[in-house]
Amino acid sequence: MMTGEKYKESAVLKFEGREVELPVVVGTEGDKALDIKQLRASTGLVTIDPGFVNTASCCSQITYIDGDRGILRYRGIPIEELVKKSTFVDVAYLLVHGTLPTEQERLDFSCMLNLNSMIHEDMRHFFDHFPQGAHPMHILSTMINAMAAFYPNVDVNTTASNIEQSCARVISIVRTIAAFAYKKSIGEPIVYPRHDLSYCANFLNMMFDSPVQPYHISAETVRLLNVLFILHADHEQNCSTSAVRAIGSAQVNLYATISAGTSALSGPLHGGANQAVIEQLRMIHADGDIEKFIKMAKDKNNPFRLMGFGHRVYKAYDPRAAIIRKECENYLSRIGSNDPLLNVARRIEEIALNDSYFVDRCLYPNVDFYTGILYRAMGIPENMFTVMFALARLPGWVAHWKEMIGDETKIVRPRQLYVGRTLQEVGEELEGRASTFLL
Ligand code: SDX
Repeated sequence: MMTGEKYKESAVLKFEGREVELPVVVGTEGDKALDIKQLRASTGLVTIDPGFVNTASCCSQITYIDGDRGILRYRGIPIEELVKKSTFVDVAYLLVHGTLPTEQERLDFSCMLNLNSMIHEDMRHFFDHFPQGAHPMHILSTMINAMAAFYPNVDVNTTASNIEQSCARVISIVRTIAAFAYKKSIGEPIVYPRHDLSYCANFLNMMFDSPVQPYHISAETVRLLNVLFILHADHEQNCSTSAVRAIGSAQVNLYATISAGTSALSGPLHGGANQAVIEQLRMIHADGDIEKFIKMAKDKNNPFRLMGFGHRVYKAYDPRAAIIRKECENYLSRIGSNDPLLNVARRIEEIALNDSYFVDRCLYPNVDFYTGILYRAMGIPENMFTVMFALARLPGWVAHWKEMIGDETKIVRPRQLYVGRTLQEVGEELEGRASTFLL
């Protein structure tokens, strides 16, 4: 069982005249956690923490976030280094295996991704039965789940080599499924993956190549996609990764587990926010009155929220958003695009970062705020924005699933505090009710 180091001090809980000592464990970056594994046994108490705002669900060696200082590191390496010196495939290997690949490891991993890039031909026909206009995220989660019917199940009892192949299969085939879903949604023939193209170039080619108009693969677009995928690759115990760990803890096969993570990511409060940001910026641009929407976002009685703003962990500028904003501005000026939505986004950020409502709550742009503007400029259709997030997050989900099954994980089954009707209240209701069952 992976645990933190025992801290030199413990915490003492005083309750009903008793004192119970609770150990404190410390992580490698100095974060401390109260170990409550014995709390209920020694006090009868459970803790309550909606949304797990104050609760660590596990110990993990994969990703480190310091939300106060805006730090994000994968296996100890800062994302600012990775986007400059690595490809998405390097980072996928890093997350799943723990270190950046050697040249040979990278060649072997790329070969495994290529060998697992085609979907079973029988799966191809599934696409014909989704209604025109079905959101690609619904198609994606359905097709990922269907993989369990076509490929050997991967669960805790499988062999290490099967786990490696299945992790590569998920990272590669899901990219093919995503591109096929897009082609079906626009009524164009699907484009198969090619072994002579890199991961990101392959995806762009499957998305945009056509029999009548060969797609020109631009090195800059491929570089940008690598950067965007690296920045979205993992983010410790976010909602969808927690869903992956919870579902996987019941020893569900890998594909169903990743399908659950995909569904969780599709929510507008999570990965669906990148599409919601663009829709909101377009609405604000059309209306013209930015201040009105800022006011709505601050109004407690108004459910309107600034999409792409705020974060459960970051109480500083999301380091991913900082990189994406810079890439977005450089790319748009390079291609000579003057996207009015970028101007609206810049203005919203400028107003919000000088408004006490946002400053007091540490609300900054998050990873989703500028991503959609950059995807738009790259020609990615809006209904594919969250699919792009899911593709990028695959190595993170797979890495957490692999870490969880290797860690003697207990099935996820939280407690609750019951606040419903008592037997006495129910008894009063049942009194005098004759049996109404007719024999
Ligand atoms: C992702 O967890 C991850 O790591 C996720 C992610 C990843 O890589 O996996 O980073 C990806 O999901 C990014 C977040 C994308 N979602 C959005 O952009 C949706 C808009 N953001 C909010 O809904 C919100 O900020 C959340 C969901 C992101 C975070 O919600 P929390 O942590 O539960 O915060 P909260 O709702 O308790 O907000 C605290 C305060 C509240 O005001 P008060 O009650 O204190 O007066 O801040 C306010 C909120 O009303 N607030 C906002 C706001 N976000 C929070 N007010 C206006 N606009 C917003 N966007």
